[in-house]
Amino acid sequence: MLSEKDFTSTITDYNVEKASFQWSSPSNIALVKYWGKKDNQIPANPSISFTLNNCKTITKFDIQQTNDGNFTFELLFEGKPKPEFNKKVNQFFLRIEQYCSYINYFHFVIDTQNTFPHSSGIASSASGMAALAMNIMSLEKALNPDMTDEFFYKKASFLARLGSGSACRSIKGNVVVWGKHDEIANSSDEFGVEFPSQLHENFKNYQDTILLVDKGEKQVSSTVGHDLMHNHPFAKQRFDQAHENLSAIKTVLENGNLDEFIKIVESEALTLHAMMMTSMPYFILMKPNTLEIINRIWSFRSKTGSKVCFTLDAGANVHVLFPEREKEEVSKFIDNELSAYCKNNEFIKDQVGLGAFQLTS
Ligand code: DP6
Repeated sequence: MLSEKDFTSTITDYNVEKASFQWSSPSNIALVKYWGKKDNQIPANPSISFTLNNCKTITKFDIQQTNDGNFTFELLFEGKPKPEFNKKVNQFFLRIEQYCSYINYFHFVIDTQNTFPHSSGIASSASGMAALAMNIMSLEKALNPDMTDEFFYKKASFLARLGSGSACRSIKGNVVVWGKHDEIANSSDEFGVEFPSQLHENFKNYQDTILLVDKGEKQVSSTVGHDLMHNHPFAKQRFDQAHENLSAIKTVLENGNLDEFIKIVESEALTLHAMMMTSMPYFILMKPNTLEIINRIWSFRSKTGSKVCFTLDAGANVHVLFPEREKEEVSKFIDNELSAYCKNNEFIKDQVGLGAFQLTS
């Protein structure tokens, strides 16, 4: 099995003068959440997510060889300079440098864009870092054409993790596990792996409509958020629970039991927020409309027998999850009832997708 030491590049022959690559990488939504980490972007507990299809980042690299011995880059967002993003990208390059020393012999022009509206409150770090990692791996592959596909995608996930933990789950589809877990063969703290069992057909094209309740800047950055789990009074119980929930959801994803799916997924979302409410300092990231939506989902479910449920990220937006066969009814419910609780009635329709893919080379 591949591990950290295998990911250190030994390339010394920089036989690429110029190259261009372009990758599209999706966002993902965690079912069992990553919240808390150790040094070097190692998660405190394993997590599992649906890879999304429509919410994605498209990033182009134009690369030119240099003799600097130091990487340099220019960052464009939708074709225009975006100095605010430089720090994150620079940090990504610094973190991957020890595994990709060849980057120091290139200048990178990076042009990136998201398919979802800017400042929609949807975190673009997962899709954004995954797209950077894919482009870096295209360069590594150009320098070392013998590389296997398996290595290409594993190292891409490894590098994406260094940029943002959840990004390592945005390389492959349609369900990805990140973090060592006893019942997931070949699972690793260092990269995401595809869910190893056959996914029950109930989850085929599973729908995720993202209700944009609050489009502002994140109130708590993920770095601050993960730090709150250090010395958190319930940390150990939470990390143990994540292992148990991952075992339980593995069975559910195999047998298609949607009632059990709902219990695990909604409990995970509320636990994530409970962790924030019980940390020091404490935060409430839900808004009144988040709670209103949750209550309306619960009452719709009890009235209709629908299997619709919700999950949350570290913010006020609500991901509404439902089987493809309920698309018509739940879409009507969202249009008629839930959209009123979104900023400007805005929401994004998405579904489970296949992972990153290359657009041009
Ligand atoms: C609540 O991956 O954004 O979305 O590793 O610090 O970049 P960093 O954190 P990030 O954390 C995401 C946390 C979450 C849950 C999840 O996606 O599992």
